[in-house]
Amino acid sequence: MEVIIRPDKESACQLACDLIFDAIALDPKIVLGLATGGTMENLYARLSKKINLAGLNLDTVRTFNLDEYIGLSPTHSGSYRSYMEKHFFSQVSIKTQNTFLPRGDALDVEQECLDYEKLIKKAGGIDLQLLGLGQIGHIGFNEPLSSLASRTRAKSLTPETRKQNAQYFGGEANVPKRAITVGVGTILESTRALMLVTGRSKAEILAKSVEGPVTSLISATALQLHPKCMVIVDEAAAAKLVNQEYYRWVFENEPEWERYR
Ligand code: F6R
Repeated sequence: MEVIIRPDKESACQLACDLIFDAIALDPKIVLGLATGGTMENLYARLSKKINLAGLNLDTVRTFNLDEYIGLSPTHSGSYRSYMEKHFFSQVSIKTQNTFLPRGDALDVEQECLDYEKLIKKAGGIDLQLLGLGQIGHIGFNEPLSSLASRTRAKSLTPETRKQNAQYFGGEANVPKRAITVGVGTILESTRALMLVTGRSKAEILAKSVEGPVTSLISATALQLHPKCMVIVDEAAAAKLVNQEYYRWVFENEPEWERYR
């Protein structure tokens, strides 16, 4: 795992944007794992702008989102399909048939989860998995005690997660209680992972996720087991990290980061 600390939210999002852009440019057939949430809005705005300015062709790019609320149709304004359409898919020229999210309104949720895993496998697996970090340390909707070997399945959301997302539903009471989420095990199988975390409110949970012991209580700690995970954060989110100086040194000195400095 590498932790990259950028001075502010804007430069953290820009670095994540540049890394994803370069990954697509290098491999036009890339399979991207995508996330939603407040943090990603800034990133998707930057990424769509950069893609359009460069005229980058997305015809052969495939995307798989991490999660979807159970009970919501894709057209529901609170669904993650709607979020993705609004913030990214409608902003760039991408083929809808190449963009995948679990169906929250599937009649057979268990079958939908199995099918989603199969679709990811059929696509050859996720090349680059984008992740945000929830207030309770979830990645995707892998709430506390999610098995570190879990696959795509239905999860009950914690009150904290429902509170975090209340703003998108006009109050906590309206937030769906369950969601389909890609599993921690599925996430760990991605070739590369990129977690983007910004803001002071994430400082404690980021430090636990990155520097604390691996535990299913905080699913993001599983990323310590990922063979190639980049964690891009701003100063505010980095505030509680013990080894900040080392992380800064790595970014300044590793050849891999030269073109991004
Ligand atoms: C949503 C997802 C979640 C969010 C996380 C952070 O697809 O995967 O894990 O990334 O809850 O959300 P924000 O950015 O709103 O704090």
